Amino acid sequence: MSLFETKVREALANPLNQGELEDADAVGTVGSPECGDMLRMWLKFTEKDGKRVIDRASFQAFGCQTAIAVASMATELLRGKTADEAKHLTAQDLTGNLGPLPPMKIHCGQLVEGALRNALDQDAVAAPTDPKAGTMAPTLASSLQPKTGGTLRIVPID
Ligand code: FES
Repeated sequence: MSLFETKVREALANPLNQGELEDADAVGTVGSPECGDMLRMWLKFTEKDGKRVIDRASFQAFGCQTAIAVASMATELLRGKTADEAKHLTAQDLTGNLGPLPPMKIHCGQLVEGALRNALDQDAVAAPTDPKAGTMAPTLASSLQPKTGGTLRIVPID
């Protein structure tokens, strides 16, 4: 087992920041066209030293173990970052202690990056001070419930 795989296993033993953030300011969802996995990320901002920074981030994933491990790391390292700083983070930046993503796992990290960017885009659209922004977002699980008589179709979100 590679060092990366060992670290993924360790992260999965205690994944951090899983679940919906009830009072989130922004939520982003992305689906991978490569594997059909999905990930949703919530962001909550706060004011610190005159800057608006990420206070908390959380995620839900229907994805592989790597995506969950990266999301766990990413939601930790996003704390204290401004939206602009977060926007410039790549999938490789978001892996934290996991180290570099192996080539076969890059799209797993990009799933996390995509959800983050989507959330930041939503945040840029919503009024930052709108207390209701993001609070009505359904959970990823509820949004995946098949509609009566319908079929589930996964559509990547830019
Ligand atoms: Fe789909 Fe990793 S295999 S996100």
